[in-house]
Amino acid sequence: MTSLPSRTGQGRSGTLPHSAFRERYLAVRALTLELVETLNEADAAAQSMPDASPAKWHLAHTTWFFETFLLRDQVPGYRLYDERWPFLFNSYYEAEGARLPRPDRGLLTRPTLAEVIDYRRRVDEAMVAVLPQLVERHGDLLELGIQHEQQHQELLLTDIKHLFALNPLGPVYRVKGEGEGPATAAPMHWIEGAQGRVDAGYDGPDFAFDNEQPMHSTWLAPHALASRPVTNGEWIEFMLDKGYETATLWLSDGLDWARREGVASPLYWRGEGREWEHFTLAGWLPVDPESPVTHISFYEAEAFAAWAGCRLPTEQEWEAAARDHDPGAGVQLDHAAPVMPRAEHGADRFTSLFGNVWEWTGSAYRPWPGFQTAPGAVGEYNGKFMSGQFVLKGGSCATPRGHLRASYRNFFHPHQRWQFTGLRLARSM
Ligand SMILES: [Fe+2]
Repeated sequence: MTSLPSRTGQGRSGTLPHSAFRERYLAVRALTLELVETLNEADAAAQSMPDASPAKWHLAHTTWFFETFLLRDQVPGYRLYDERWPFLFNSYYEAEGARLPRPDRGLLTRPTLAEVIDYRRRVDEAMVAVLPQLVERHGDLLELGIQHEQQHQELLLTDIKHLFALNPLGPVYRVKGEGEGPATAAPMHWIEGAQGRVDAGYDGPDFAFDNEQPMHSTWLAPHALASRPVTNGEWIEFMLDKGYETATLWLSDGLDWARREGVASPLYWRGEGREWEHFTLAGWLPVDPESPVTHISFYEAEAFAAWAGCRLPTEQEWEAAARDHDPGAGVQLDHAAPVMPRAEHGADRFTSLFGNVWEWTGSAYRPWPGFQTAPGAVGEYNGKFMSGQFVLKGGSCATPRGHLRASYRNFFHPHQRWQFTGLRLARSM
């Protein structure tokens, strides 16, 4: 058993035995490969927009992370697979030097998919060979690499979805499984939240990112949160009531954005009135009015909340509500689109806090009091993005199992909506 102090500032590696680390490392690496099984060479190389990356790039970049920060930096005598490739597969680490501009990732017709898969295999072999010593000395960095790869598994899915949605043939990434039919959303009810002094942030023996730390006290005013996320059916009512055209519901930046981009429905929707289809990983499907709305921007979420006479939860309110819920309870990586699970009935129970849609909060993504970035390149992981973005909580149907916590902080710019983003209403009391 090993338990290590945090050197990366990204939390601790926990107390997993070496063999469990090896199993977890190999399982996570294998899942990434499974996600590209149905893609052809062209699917894997194309980039649909600057925010999205080609699947092949995700495969290589996650490998570059292990090769750079574990093998190159920590294993004496390791030789890079190809000295030209760090320029291609460094994402945003200034400390790692120059790199390919992000919008050019789709121009990488070479290396081929087979070469990138060979790169993964060789790095995995090198990693497994030295894993016991890495676990012993750099367990926190190793865990960071695994968590990083899980984050990219979700991005890989949302980026493929965006790419396929732009294809007039509407390709199917995966066939909709049995038993994935629409569920029935329970009527929404209000659940009173904790008030007064509460803890926020992570402090414990397991992994957490640096941006979740340190744990600190915060003060919550009286409030209530909705028992479940907003549904597609409720969003259609908002649209029928001219929610997109009613300027008084919108933030000024949001209205400018919606007008400039011609936004009048969630991303991937087509139709009118009460008849809508949306593009999913299983192709074009009818919009299920009972399932959570997804692929909406922060601006749209704010406008909806204003229309409903409510507001978005703060990050701290959401976290306090989620603290005693099971983060593994969601439908992660199982579904082509978010589906409302059978309601967990009871006046004090929330539905779908974890693993269905990322829920926009009204909180700016800023450091917790006492936050410190780690020395070196991995200090660039989260901290440098703390401007102009908003926090999302809970994870989505595309988030890998075992990756979420109540303190987990995702963040995106207010106009972005190609992730599985949704909302839950809140109100002050
Ligand atoms: Fe990354």
